[in-house]
Amino acid sequence: MNQSSSDRRQFLQTVAGGVVAGLLPSGQPVHAQTTAASDFLLSEGLAYLNTGTIGPCRRATIEATQGAWEVLEANPVAHYGRDVGQPLIEDTRTLAAGFLGCDLDELALTTSTTNGMNAIAQGLRLAAGDRVLLTDQEHSGGLHCWQYLERHHGVKLDIVPIPRGEFRAAELVAAVENAIRPDTRVISVSHVLSSTGLRMPIVELAALAKSRGVLCVVDGAQAVGAIRVKVRELGCDAYATSGHKWLMGPKGTGLLFIAKDAQPLIRPMALEESYRTSSNGTGVVNLPGILGLGEAIRYLDKADMTQVETHNLELRNTLAERLRAIEGLTLVSPPAGALASPLLTALLAERFDRATVSQRLLERHQIVIRPTHAEFGFNGIRFSLHEFNTTHDVERAVEAVRRELGA
Ligand SMILES: Cc1ncc(COP(=O)(O)O)c(C=O)c1O
Repeated sequence: MNQSSSDRRQFLQTVAGGVVAGLLPSGQPVHAQTTAASDFLLSEGLAYLNTGTIGPCRRATIEATQGAWEVLEANPVAHYGRDVGQPLIEDTRTLAAGFLGCDLDELALTTSTTNGMNAIAQGLRLAAGDRVLLTDQEHSGGLHCWQYLERHHGVKLDIVPIPRGEFRAAELVAAVENAIRPDTRVISVSHVLSSTGLRMPIVELAALAKSRGVLCVVDGAQAVGAIRVKVRELGCDAYATSGHKWLMGPKGTGLLFIAKDAQPLIRPMALEESYRTSSNGTGVVNLPGILGLGEAIRYLDKADMTQVETHNLELRNTLAERLRAIEGLTLVSPPAGALASPLLTALLAERFDRATVSQRLLERHQIVIRPTHAEFGFNGIRFSLHEFNTTHDVERAVEAVRRELGA
C-alpha cells in the first residue's frame, strides 16, 4: 500500500468512526422511526419552525464535520491533498447529483444559493441590452446577481408582479409569458417563493422558456430538502440551492446544477476547468463542511424525499387550518395543493408588528419563526415545517400565536 492510500484509509477510519465516508449507518430514516429531539443540538424546549431561514444540523452531521476537521488538522497538508481529501469530497458531489437527479458533470458544490446564482449570472456573459425576467418576489440571493449585471453591464431587468392571492398556475405562467420580449435571454425565478411559500410552476415555465429560446434559471433555496426536487424533471437550465437550509447541512454549503445543454452558454469562472469540488477555479474548499453535507444528504435520501415532503405538507396544512381560525391573521400562502410548500405565511392585522410578535413567540413561548422580509412589503410571520417537526410543535405554535394576538 502506498503512502497516500494508507493516509486515506487512516482518514476514513478515524473520521467519525467512518460515518463521513458512508461506511457506517448513520441516522435512521425519519419515517422508519420518530425523530428524536436529541438527534439535534437545539436548545431544550425550543420549537424550531424557521428552517427556511437556516436549518439545524443533525448530531450525526455535526459529528461528521467535526470529526473530519479534527483529523484534517492533525496533518493538514497530508489529509487535504488530492489523494486523501479530494476523493472524499467528490463523494458528496456524487451523492448530491443523485439526490437532485442529474449527472455528476452537471453538479458543482458551492457555499450558498447566492453563490450559485452569482456563478450562473456571471457565467452567462450577457451583453448590454440583454433582458432578464424576474418576479417581484425574488429574494436578494437570487436578485443581487442580476442587479449587478444591470448596474455594471447594461443588462435590463423586467419584473413580473405576482399578485397576492394568485394561486392559478396557468395565470402565473401567462404573466411570465406576456413579459417575454425579443431581447429576453433569461427567466430567473424562485422554485418556492420565500415570501409566501408559493411553489412556482417550474415545469411549465421551463417549457415556456425553451419554446422561446430563453434560459430558465431557478433559485431553489426554499425547495431542496423541503420537497422532492429532481432537476431533470423540472427541465430548467440551471438550479442553485443551499446546503444550510432544508438539507440541514453545515452552514456555508450549497449545490449548483447546470444542465449539459446549457453549459456552453453558462460558464462560471470557478467551473471553467472542471465541475470537481476543488480545482484551479475554486482554490481551497471547506472539506469538513462538505463531508458534513454528504452526511446530511445521505440522511434525507434514506428518509426518502417523497415521504419527507408528505410529512412536511401535512404539518403545514394542519397549521394552516388552525391558524385560519385565529382573528388578526390572514393566510397569504396557497391553499393545500400543487402550489403549496412547507413554508406558510400569515399576514398580521395592522395593530400588530411582525418583529414584535416573532420576538414574543421566542421569548415567551420558545417558538422560532421569522417576520416576513421587509422588501416584500407586508406585515407577516412565516413558519417552516420540516421533517423533525411534529404535530406537537404545530399545536404549541397555534396556542402561542393565539395568546400573543389576544384571540
Ligand atoms: C429564495 C431564496 N433565495 C436565496 C436565499 C439565500 O440563500 P443563501 O443564504 O444560501 O445564499 C434565500 C434565503 O432565505 C431564499 O429564501
